[in-house]
Amino acid sequence: TVKDSQGNITKVVLVEASGAAVEVYLYGATITSWKAKGKERLFLSKQAILDGSKAIRGGIPIVFPQFGLGKLVQHGFARTSNWQLLGYKDQIDGAKAMFLLTENEHSLSMWPHKFRAVYTIRLDSDTLNLSLSITNTNTSAAGSFDFTTLLHTYFLTPSISEVAVHNLAGLSYTDKVAKLDNVVEKNDPVSLASNVDRVYHNAPEKINIDISKHEAVLLTKTNFKDIVLWNPWAELAKGMADFGDDEYKQMVCVETGTVGSPISLAPGQTWEGHTSIVLQ
Ligand code: BG6
Repeated sequence: TVKDSQGNITKVVLVEASGAAVEVYLYGATITSWKAKGKERLFLSKQAILDGSKAIRGGIPIVFPQFGLGKLVQHGFARTSNWQLLGYKDQIDGAKAMFLLTENEHSLSMWPHKFRAVYTIRLDSDTLNLSLSITNTNTSAAGSFDFTTLLHTYFLTPSISEVAVHNLAGLSYTDKVAKLDNVVEKNDPVSLASNVDRVYHNAPEKINIDISKHEAVLLTKTNFKDIVLWNPWAELAKGMADFGDDEYKQMVCVETGTVGSPISLAPGQTWEGHTSIVLQ
């Protein structure tokens, strides 16, 4: 673990027996690096702010309890909250770390609910396994809540022109750039050559992504219904203070989440979603 000058843990570096490793900031429980088979696999902006004053630009921020803009801050408070490290085991096959977030002053100032979010990261030589569980810990019978959630994964690519996302053809998507609903995806695979911001509804469990001409990953999701595909492209990149003007060429966000229709939890209920990313 890495500590600040007051002795608080700020970052966890989890190393697996084969040398695969992840770095996770307690701020947002944001993974900022995943090295596997000798290479970095996640994009982190060179301009990312890592001092806990802004959501981290890159890696895998956690979106909860709201995707996008709504009543709460953009993408919710989980990515701007300090999570607690519950424990970790490393230097073994299946190295693992667990993080916890419960209601606190920051969350209660915008969302009047008690909850327990547990994020579990497991690492094999070629796989990153992510599980998020959300429990409604309100006690009153009227204390149900709704939420949307997503793992906002930024993949690192040598060139966006080589990225191809498979298994999306035939799905209906919301195009947040053109502001259109129910567009049917005709391309297989989908490539990116402009600002793309789409929510693919009810996507299949397995999504294959060509990261470059020679590298692919298999993204698997359970209980996450949708896939968000995002690249800001040149013009929007220029307007982002924590993102380099040309960095859009080196990243693609393929995000697993449930964002189209919210998940409802009654008091005492738990929802759990899983995502794994496997190098092919
Ligand atoms: C995507 C959204 O998931 O995240 C986009 O669909 C948004 O609309 C992007 O621009 C980045 O969001 P933020 O808040 O991290 O700049």
